[in-house]
Formats: sequence, structure tokens, C-alpha cells
Amino acid sequence: MFLLNEISEGVYYVGVNDRTKALFEGLWPLPYGVSYNSYLIKDEKTALIDTVDVCYSDLFLSKIADALGDRKLDYLIVNHMEPDHSGSIRMLRMLYPDVQIVGNSKTFGMLDGFYGLKEGLFEVKEGSTLDLGRHKLMFTMAPMVHWPEVMFTYDTTDKILFSADAFGTYGALSGGVIDDEMNTDIFPEEMIRYYANIVGKYGSPVQKALQKLPSIEVKMICSTHGPVWRSMIPEVVATYDRLSRYEGTEGVTIIYGSMYGHTEQMAETVAEALARGGVKNIAMHNTSKSHSSFILKDVFKYKGLIIGSPTYSNQLYPDIASIVDKIALREVKNRYFGCFGSFTWSGAAVKRLTAFAEQMKWETVGTPIDQKQGMSAATYEGCVALGTAMAEKIQHV
Ligand code: FEO
Repeated sequence: MFLLNEISEGVYYVGVNDRTKALFEGLWPLPYGVSYNSYLIKDEKTALIDTVDVCYSDLFLSKIADALGDRKLDYLIVNHMEPDHSGSIRMLRMLYPDVQIVGNSKTFGMLDGFYGLKEGLFEVKEGSTLDLGRHKLMFTMAPMVHWPEVMFTYDTTDKILFSADAFGTYGALSGGVIDDEMNTDIFPEEMIRYYANIVGKYGSPVQKALQKLPSIEVKMICSTHGPVWRSMIPEVVATYDRLSRYEGTEGVTIIYGSMYGHTEQMAETVAEALARGGVKNIAMHNTSKSHSSFILKDVFKYKGLIIGSPTYSNQLYPDIASIVDKIALREVKNRYFGCFGSFTWSGAAVKRLTAFAEQMKWETVGTPIDQKQGMSAATYEGCVALGTAMAEKIQHV
């Protein structure tokens, strides 16, 4: 038996929590777990919106059976085909062989490819509608947020936007489902981290999707991960808007690698100069310890970015090269950039970091500092100057 969670008249939350998986997508740490959200609408017709990861199919299908009672399931609406949401579709179809699967043409290609399902499909396009009785649904396409088949389902009756991964966040749900019925302290940061890790490359498609919002009234946003947004809608929409425009807030991320502490000493000096210059938000990441998931979160969060790297076999330090690649992949825009590096006999790191900033079309702040072996008075002054210049820049733009 399950406690039925009715979030709006005839709309039930039937998602599950994953507090077991260590890495989302096999890549991103889940210190607070993650939820896979699914919603059931019981009206004259019944419709389920998205499913859950296959690891939780048994629990999920039990919830559906419980919530439906003696009703049949008429429709499964597939807003997103990534397997954390589509993983239970094949089993759902076995239990409810007559269910019509609602999606767009791109959905159906993936449905066949992943699960071999070709029959009982109900194709929708931009603006298509589905009448469940009291609830009238409308579909709008949101391609590349963050997969090509993504679409949103809008309940025009209760003004609920079922938004696939958009507005989603890491963090399992601890009992409550709606934002104003729970402590939401972890979610603002976890939402930025989720966005930076998963959606980050697709700022432009997210902006296109956001531009559709002002034309509809939204009382509730039901994403596929994290809380149902009701009281926090303005904040989460503003967060997605800011992140998808790559607009950083006032603060600086310092990313550095260090084998024997010399590059780290430069990082500490730059940070001290930033603080002396009035910057309060300084996120420091030693790549040997900080996971890239959390580094990317701060790169998306703050408008200043300073990277320091030892030269390693005439290249960037491997962990720095790795995070630089991840930032480039996400096409992060509009960062104020500074860099420093150290070497023993031949320096390459600063040259490569400078080239990286040029490739990203970022404005370089201050003078890059290249340190040979240990810290000298000149290197120290250079690091102070870099931190001071960045502090002035980010507080006056
Ligand atoms: Fe939560 Fe893109 O899947």
C-alpha cells in the first residue's frame, strides 16, 4: 500500500527516490540522492506522464497499480526518452498492453531503438491537445533541452507544466513533494550543479523553451527530478534563465592542480588578493580532490574564473586538462578569465590556458603568471596583481 500524493485535483505524484546510486549517468556524484518523478492523472481517461529508472520499475509499477485501482491506463505521455525516465516503459506496456504511448516522431524512433516498441503510438506535434475529461492537455516541443525528442506537457485546466528535465535538480525527496511543504535548502545549489553537469551545453535551446513560458499561466512546474515547484516558480525560472544565458553572479572560481604545493601557493595568494579586493564569493577547487561535477557548478555560478596549472610533460596538468575540456564542451560564455602556472624547466601550462581562453572568446583579466620552480618575490607580486585586477573587474561590470 502507498500513500497517494495528490498534488492537484486528480493529479498524483508517483515518482521514486534513488538513494543508492553513487553516480548519476555513471559520472556525477549524488550526495543527496535523486528522484525520478512521474505523475498520474485520473480523469475520465487516465494518463501517466513519464516513467522511472528500470532499477525502480517494480516499486513504480506497484504504485501505479495502487493509484489506478480498478481503472485501466489509457495513455503514457513520454516527455523525455532518457532511460532514467523511459526505463520502465517496456514493463509498463506488458502490464497495460492497451496503453497508448503519446510522443512525437523523435520519441518514437527512440522508443523503437531502446525498447522495440512500434505499436499503439499516439503522435503529437507542437500545439497538439489531448482531452482527458476535466484535464485538457497541450503539448509543446522543447528540442535539445537536453535531448532532441524532449517535449513539455501543459495541463491547461490546472495550469501545470510537466517540464521533463527542465527545472530539475539533484536531491531525493524526503517525504514531501511540493516545495512549500518541505525544507528546500539543498535544492538551489543542487539545481545549479544538475544544470551545469547535464544541461549546460544547451543554453540556446533552453532559452527558446523559456520564451514560451510568458504566454501561459503556470501554477505548478512538475519536473522529472526534484520537488514540484509551486511557491518557488519565480526563483527556479530565474535560475534557469540566468544559467542558460551563461550569466555569472559576483564571485570567482579558482581551479588549480598542484603536485608539490607550488601552484597551490599561487592559488592561495590570488585568493587572498581577491578577498582583500572585496570579493566574498571565492570557490577554490584543487582538481586532485574536487570532483568536476562541483567545479562545473561553480564555473556556471560565478562570472570570474581563474585557472592554475603545473606544466606536465609539456602539457596541462592532466586533471586541469580534463576540467578545461568539460568547460569547453559546455560552451560556457562570458567569463572573466585569469590564469597562472608553474614549471621546472620549460613552461607550457600558461600558454595552453591562454589559448583556451581565446578559444572560449573570454576576456582575459590581469597578466598571466608563469612561475619557474618556487615562488619568488616577482611571482608573489604577480599573483597579488592578478587577484586584485580580477576583484576590480568583477565588482565593476
Ligand atoms: Fe533525467 Fe535527461 O534525463
